[in-house]
This record gives sequence, C-alpha cells and structure tokens, in this order.
Amino acid sequence: MTTSHANRKPDLSVTVAGIEFKNPVIAASGTFGYGIEFEDVVHLDKIGGFVVKGLSKEPMAGNPPPRLYETAAGMLNAIGLQNIGAQAFLDEKLPKLREIKNIVVLANVFGYTREDYERTIQILNEGEGIAAYELNVSCPNTAQGGIQFGSDPRLLDEVVATARHSTQRPLIVKLSPNVTSIAQMAYVAQEAGADAISLVNTFVAMAIDAETRRPRIANVTAGLSGPAIKPIALRMVYDAAKAVKIPVIGMGGIASAVDIIEFMLAGASAIQIGTASYWDPCATEKIVEELQEWCVDHKIEKLASVTGGLLTD
Ligand SMILES: Cc1cc2nc3c(=O)[nH]c(=O)nc-3n(C[C@H](O)[C@H](O)[C@H](O)COP(=O)(O)O)c2cc1C
Repeated sequence: MTTSHANRKPDLSVTVAGIEFKNPVIAASGTFGYGIEFEDVVHLDKIGGFVVKGLSKEPMAGNPPPRLYETAAGMLNAIGLQNIGAQAFLDEKLPKLREIKNIVVLANVFGYTREDYERTIQILNEGEGIAAYELNVSCPNTAQGGIQFGSDPRLLDEVVATARHSTQRPLIVKLSPNVTSIAQMAYVAQEAGADAISLVNTFVAMAIDAETRRPRIANVTAGLSGPAIKPIALRMVYDAAKAVKIPVIGMGGIASAVDIIEFMLAGASAIQIGTASYWDPCATEKIVEELQEWCVDHKIEKLASVTGGLLTD
C-alpha cells in the first residue's frame, strides 16, 4: 500500500552551522540549567538541542536577590550570569550528558575581557560532546570602560575574531538587541568569522514599586524577555537575516508553534525558547509536538523550506 501524502510525517530537521538538528526547537541559555537538570521533565532527545547556562573561566555567584520579576507579558531578570565555571561543567555535567543518546549540546560562553572568552573556550575545547559555542556578547567589557561587547562594532569584531582563533568548533554569535543597527552588528559578526548568529538576548529594562519607591530588582536594571519582546525580536531577526549569508537562530518571546513559523518566515533557520520554560518546564517538548501538527495541517513536508518565506507584496 502506498503511503498517502497526508500520512507522511513532516521533516522538521534543519541544519545550522554544519550541525544537523532533528527539529528547530532549541532551549535557550540560562533557562534550561545545564540540560541535565531537565532530564526528568523533558525528553532531551525530542527537542532539537539546548544551550547550557552561560559559562565563564571561573565559577560566579551572580547578583543578590531579588533577581526575577514578572511583568505584563514578560519577565525581568538580573541573575548576573551565575555559573559553576567551565572546568566544573566539563567535570560534573558533560559526562552525564554524554550518556544520553541523540542530543545536541551547545555551550554558551561569556567574559569581561577578550582573554576571558579565549580562556573559557580553551578549557571547553578539552571536553567531548559540545556541538558548538554560542558567544554571549551582552557583557560589559571591563577593560574598555564597561561598554557591552555587543553594542560596539569594533569590540564585537575583536571578541568574535578572538573566539574564532580559539576553536575549530562551530561558532554562533548571540547578538545584543540593545543597539541602533542590528543589521550592522550581524554583518560584523559574520565578517569576524561567525558560522551563525542568534538573536535576541534580553532588552535592558526596569520596574519600580511605587509604594516602596524602590526598584523591583536589586541590580536596578535587568533584562526583559518573554512575549512582551516578541514583535521587536521578530523585526530584528528580519533585519539581521537580510544583512548576512550565514544562518540565523531567532528567539524572543516564542511560546507556540505559530510563533516559530513567524520567526522562520522572517528568516530564522532555527529558534530558541527561553522564558516559556519558566512558565511551563515542558514547553520546549510540547511545542515540538505542536509544530509537527501545524506542519501536517498546513501540508508542509519540509519545515526548512519556510525560512525566509515572508511575502511582502
Ligand atoms: C533567567 C534568564 C537567564 C538567562 N541567562 C542567559 C545566559 O546565561 N546567557 C545568554 O546568552 N542568555 C541568557 N538569557 C537570555 C535568553 O537565553 C534569551 O535570549 C532571552 O530570554 C529571550 O528569549 P525568551 O523571550 O524566549 O526568553 C537568560 C534569560 C533569562 C530569562
């Protein structure tokens, strides 16, 4: 008996930076621990992949509380990049992840100087089972008066070039949305050697308690994420995708299969899900199932064909 067109399972696979993902749904850094903590909640082999918490060369304690605050349709966080450090990740987390078959682990890397990024990548290069690095450039450069690496084209160029020279592994540069021209930053990252870009990181924002006259977050300012940022993130993915030839990984407020399709139409080859996992820890896996159904309902045989398909006339 021949399989009818309608019964065929849609092909959700995508290839980004030479890495094959079984579907485009990747859990975003800082919202999925080191992956292993989600093992009992999500079938890790059902999602496209996950990005671990940002890693630095030394362990970091992060900011004092309160560090999280829920806003209308979003969330503020100022965790302060708390993490166990690159070496402890290799020793304590990666061996457990290696025991799980058929998963894609991406390591998010940050630092406060170019040398920090270089050193962290050198440590991680020794670990087996990391598919790629995602460079978080939304950090202040302490050697350059605290300007964010990702907010200055020259600093961005330098840090991406440094990372490029430090590894053979695929390099994804995660852009900061706190810039005037995201297209320019996307292009700079590409020219400095990125294999792909991901965007957006959180928007600098704040919330105030009118009763106490105090900030809601101890750090005063914090990063805004969740559905509140989705339309801006979508516009930035669209602008960035037009400016580069390398693949784009889109994120910012994605909480459903339809959101994913919108980001892919804007030019994303894959997407990440962050804040939605705070509201429902199973969100990533559920959205993969929803995506499968959406493709069947809309007769999409190969999901990758949706990328860049926005109609504007
Ligand atoms: C609590 C929290 C921690 C985060 N930590 C990191 C991090 O360590 N490194 C990083 O590159 N992005 C970090 N992010 C940003 C997310 O990965 C993502 O870019 C952003 O939240 C937008 O996606 P979303 O709206 O789906 O959450 C963090 C976000 C949240 C909410």
